Amino acid sequence: MTTTDPGTGVGQDVLRFPPGFRWGAATASFQIEGATAEDGRGPSIWDTFAARPGAVRGGDTGDPACDHYHRYPADVELMAELGLGAYRFSLAWPRIQPLGAGRVEPRGLAFYDRLVDELLGKGIEPVVTLYHWDLPQALEDRGGWRDRDTAHRFAEYAALAHEHLGDRVRSWTTLNEPWCSAFLGYANGVHAPGVVDPKASLEAAHHLLLGHGLAVRAMRARASADHRFSIVLNFGALDVDDDSALDAARKVDGLQNRLFLDPLGGRGYPRDVVEDTAWLGDWTAVVRDGDLDVIATPIDWMGVNYYAPTRVAAAADPLVVTGGPFPGLRGVEFLPPRGEVTGMNWEIDPTGLTRLLQRLQRDVGLPLVVTENGSAFPDVVEGGEVVDLARTRYLVDHLRAVHAAIAAGVDVRGYFAWSLLDNFEWAEGYSQRFGIVHVDYGTQVRTVKRSGRALAAVIGANAVPTTGYDLP
Ligand code: FCB
Repeated sequence: MTTTDPGTGVGQDVLRFPPGFRWGAATASFQIEGATAEDGRGPSIWDTFAARPGAVRGGDTGDPACDHYHRYPADVELMAELGLGAYRFSLAWPRIQPLGAGRVEPRGLAFYDRLVDELLGKGIEPVVTLYHWDLPQALEDRGGWRDRDTAHRFAEYAALAHEHLGDRVRSWTTLNEPWCSAFLGYANGVHAPGVVDPKASLEAAHHLLLGHGLAVRAMRARASADHRFSIVLNFGALDVDDDSALDAARKVDGLQNRLFLDPLGGRGYPRDVVEDTAWLGDWTAVVRDGDLDVIATPIDWMGVNYYAPTRVAAAADPLVVTGGPFPGLRGVEFLPPRGEVTGMNWEIDPTGLTRLLQRLQRDVGLPLVVTENGSAFPDVVEGGEVVDLARTRYLVDHLRAVHAAIAAGVDVRGYFAWSLLDNFEWAEGYSQRFGIVHVDYGTQVRTVKRSGRALAAVIGANAVPTTGYDLP
């Protein structure tokens, strides 16, 4: 398994990643921190939602999660053991501004000071996400992302977090997956705040994008030259069986991908999506002069979250409302997954990641970073070990898929495994384990899984084996 090839290693028995490729793992504040009522933290929409009977599987809540709020030094130590060069995590807005506006809670900022310092002390680069879904409840009480004012509050929060941590943090992401915030949150309501109002969900999408642009402007105005700004999107890699499904694929691609990519790229909202959704009412009435310029504020890289492909077909009736999170979608049928699936019943298709990265290289033209990719399986600890072969295969196959994209000329700069730790998987509660490190929620004992060791080996070699899964 050795090669002296300084390039990508194609044709060798390993696939080598470019020098300087960033290796990391990702988490999000609400999913791991716990301590939801400590040190002045205000309630978030996820605290409220989780308290609603039936909203989260098993009635699970954000406590204790991984108790990372108290255990972060040991967790950073684990990252160092795995050889991670970078760690992607999110700041909890309600820890920093308990009411989402105005008063700043110094104890909230102090927690992130300690975390960042701990990371830097171990040579791990902090990659900060400002918003991974835990909106302060006080803002939701005024309409949340349905209200334009939230975009301005977000920019203020971004500026103050950046001002506080910008002396040590270079890499800043505004939003994680605005598609989920807007459509799971406000269209079908399976995520917080649990609102079912498809037209309002499109208005929320606009306000999220506006908040992103305002935040980038606010931070860039005071940033050092080496600061880098980004947004993280969850993309659908669409699969169709034949041409009869092409129009269905266009519609889903529109609401999943282009609704976000086009305005970020300065092209405004896609005309076909606006037409397809017009029957809900004119949600574009919330778009004011100048908004599209703000949304198109240049960024430095784009984060790509990929888990599974999306299979679509044309529904027999072109006007039948598809339902689910896609607002206004009609005439589309989502097909069940094929072949092997994960614990989430998500299809396993690494080729979708290669195709997606190639498409984004064409359509975005920015450096790309895989900011999330991973799989849930029902792991067990046996004899102090977690032999998670299915997750190890998923990881290695998706790394090969990333490598294939790089070999085809796509500018991919890094890969972050989702997730460092098993954690609170939103509406699925603690029932789905995505970690490369197992967490026993009763004792808070961490056990590095075989997949975690595999990732450590890949990082050590800056390469994956061309075939097989024979990693230490
Ligand atoms: C993504 C979320 C992340 C995690 C994974 C499984 O959509 O960004 O928090 O829940 O899915």
